[in-house]
Amino acid sequence: MKIACIGGGPAALYFAISMKLRDPAHEIEVFERNPPGVTFGWGVVFSDLTVENITANDPVSAEIITGEFAHWDDIDVHFKGETITSGGHGFIGIGRKRLLEILQHRARELGVVLHFESECDPAARKWRDFDLVIAADGANSRFRDADREAFGVDIDVRANKFVWLGTSKVFDAFTFAFEETEHGWIWAHAYRFAPDCSTFIVECSEETWASFGFDRMSQDESIAACEKLFAKYLDGHRLQSNASHLVGSAAWLNFRRIKCERWTSGNVILLGDAAHTAHFSIGSGTKLALEDAIKLADVLNRKGFSLEAALDEYQAERSLEVLKLQNSARNSTEWFETLERYTHFEPLQFAYSLLTRSQRISHENLRLRDREWLETVERWFWKRATDGKSNKTAPPMFAPFKLREMEVQNRVTVSPMAMYSAVDGVPNDFHFVHYGERALGGAGLVFTEMTCVSPEGRISPGCTGMWNADHVAAWKRIVDFVHANSKAKICLQLGHSGGKGSTRLGWEGNDVPLDDGNWPVMAASDVRWSPANQVPTPMTRSDMDKVRDQFVAAVRMGLECDFDMVELHAAHGYLLAGFISPLQNRRTDEYGGSLENRLRYPLEVFAAMRAAWPSDKPMSVRISATDWAGDDGVTPEEAVEIGEAFAREGADLIDVSAGQTWAGQQPVYGRMFQTPFSDRIRNEGKLATMAVGNIYEPDHANSILAAGRADLVALARPHLVDPFWTLRAAAQLDYRDVHCPPQYLNGLSQLARNLKREADAAAALRV
Ligand SMILES: Cc1cc2nc3c(=O)[nH]c(=O)nc-3n(C[C@H](O)[C@H](O)[C@H](O)COP(=O)(O)OP(=O)(O)OC[C@H]3O[C@@H](n4cnc5c(N)ncnc54)[C@H](O)[C@@H]3O)c2cc1C
Ligand SMILES: Cc1cc2nc3c(=O)[nH]c(=O)nc-3n(C[C@H](O)[C@H](O)[C@H](O)COP(=O)(O)O)c2cc1C
Repeated sequence: MKIACIGGGPAALYFAISMKLRDPAHEIEVFERNPPGVTFGWGVVFSDLTVENITANDPVSAEIITGEFAHWDDIDVHFKGETITSGGHGFIGIGRKRLLEILQHRARELGVVLHFESECDPAARKWRDFDLVIAADGANSRFRDADREAFGVDIDVRANKFVWLGTSKVFDAFTFAFEETEHGWIWAHAYRFAPDCSTFIVECSEETWASFGFDRMSQDESIAACEKLFAKYLDGHRLQSNASHLVGSAAWLNFRRIKCERWTSGNVILLGDAAHTAHFSIGSGTKLALEDAIKLADVLNRKGFSLEAALDEYQAERSLEVLKLQNSARNSTEWFETLERYTHFEPLQFAYSLLTRSQRISHENLRLRDREWLETVERWFWKRATDGKSNKTAPPMFAPFKLREMEVQNRVTVSPMAMYSAVDGVPNDFHFVHYGERALGGAGLVFTEMTCVSPEGRISPGCTGMWNADHVAAWKRIVDFVHANSKAKICLQLGHSGGKGSTRLGWEGNDVPLDDGNWPVMAASDVRWSPANQVPTPMTRSDMDKVRDQFVAAVRMGLECDFDMVELHAAHGYLLAGFISPLQNRRTDEYGGSLENRLRYPLEVFAAMRAAWPSDKPMSVRISATDWAGDDGVTPEEAVEIGEAFAREGADLIDVSAGQTWAGQQPVYGRMFQTPFSDRIRNEGKLATMAVGNIYEPDHANSILAAGRADLVALARPHLVDPFWTLRAAAQLDYRDVHCPPQYLNGLSQLARNLKREADAAAALRV
């Protein structure tokens, strides 16, 4: 094949090398606009996996590259006058300039023709003479932008400003240096990539940048200002730019996250940063570029493969890898963009939060990297959880937590789950066994399912209720069992289904109306859930009084049953969520319109419940922190205001769920996918929160808690099939202090032994 590679970056050069290695008959020319040796940027970091990949692809260049790697293990986080050092991170880095020299040399050796100082114009006719044109012309690709529509280009310009500098100061550790100034926080990411040189990226918010006046400074002035700001880390070494072609503040960039729906158009194929970018704070752009190059060369040289099939496979496989990295990169980017959310943390927790920001590194990863450091974090967590009384080194999920006078023995919660198994609202033997078993299973707090305050407030005919003496008796039996036989606390979740009521049992069709026997439903407005559902009657003020009083009566009955806590369900599109969401609430009175108005009735209900509930017992509220509808619905930003409003009425905990508030929602699922909302509400609103949603491993729970992203973690589906999730986690983590019903102690110790044996065998295999 006759191939033109546009750009002389890592992607183009490595692709040219990989093609020639597979078939020396290919004619390949690389066109780079700069002279050799002139490039932007300084060092790049690699992972062990990338090294394995490039070694398998081309041992010759890999040997030179790896021979020149700078290695370092530690990460230093400088914050509020403290330096927090953790080890075992195993970074490797190399200068970008040196990497390109090695690749240029290898490409030439294999017969690739390199043209420098050759600006390429996508409109030029000469590209037609090539079978393929590889657009490896970087994030600002002219070849991609010449036909944005064909490639389906999506560019997200991120909020922070950064400048990529270098210095002769040699940093022994990967260094994050955070400085608080009168203009706001500014920080550096610095690492060594050669024996005498380090990368030094300076980043801050756009407001801080403008307030410093960086927008009006020349490049030299900017550099001088950064040298002054970070003088204590530079030990007299200078900062330098190698983007001298960029004038004034242009050296400061906003990171651009690039995605392309299609990576091929005609004979043009996108490669590396031209197709996708990953934020520099997770350091994977070069890795992606090299791995793209290997894959593309592979499929193009596979015998019996059509060009079309080859390109399909290239995009399908690579775009999946890119998606995974871009997800982690987005978390990391957002962490730096919302830095001020975390600056009230103590330095140790701040460092932990920084290290786990992308959700790629978890609590147990950190234990493997640096056990001693992680144990310092665990001890710190326990000390704080016990007001300094405990010096225990143990997983955060087992630390106690206090809400008013209620103390839960650990941070694991059985999330509310409708069982659709009651008759006339009365919980029966199924519920007795179900809740009893989950309390025996070790969770610190067990929530009841949404228990409805009236017959017409039920979701389905199978929902439990709290409106008469039969309900009180049946719930009391359950609560008494929990208190007598476990250390778990039990919380009564109270709700009213609103417009989403009168539907089938969950497994017969969620939100689908009954075949017969439907009852009339009411809601904030006459907006129906779907064309199949009833149109609800908008509530009058007297309806509102009646329902509020039903909630209060249910709270009083909850007290008779001796529940430890009450939660108001104001999420998931039921009655109160329907008031809060602008998608369901179309009222024009004082209960509709602004968020303040939409919250008025739910807050009134909450306040009335709070007044009827003893002041030493806690209350929570479950909210949907987003309608998953962009700015048309409730946004995560508003969720902070919502949490704060309930807290002012006496809510001790915000139970942060999301969505299910309108049928057209566009959720973004993934591991722990709702936790960022809890993080935001907790750390912007300074409120206690509970995170929920696809949290299923002890490692998830510990990572969330230690990073201060929530105070409690709730698991729903995992508890359906494993009531003993918490005891199993204790066995897995070899934590002996968990309360286990004495009747089950032998089972727990056997499980702990077996899991330890398995873990030791797996570790031996790895060695
Ligand atoms: C601040 C910062 C820090 C980073 N840190 C890391 C890191 O630690 N680890 C990591 O892996 N990645 C890092 N990256 C990302 C990394 O630099 C890129 O992902 C990587 O360079 C992509 O390689 P590429 O070959 O696709 O594009 P590039 O390296 O951008 O190469 C494109 C080349 O094309 C040339 N070119 C462009 N247009 C034309 C034209 N019309 N005609 C001729 N030539 C043209 C350019 O001059 C350039 O040489 C960082 C990026 C930034 C901005
Ligand atoms: C069967 C089932 C019933 C549920 N019923 C309720 C409920 O009654 N009240 C509530 O607030 N959430 C309810 N949920 C939502 C869960 O509490 C939880 O928020 C959701 O399942 C996400 O957590 P998970 O990923 O751990 O399952 C229910 C979930 C399931 C699976």
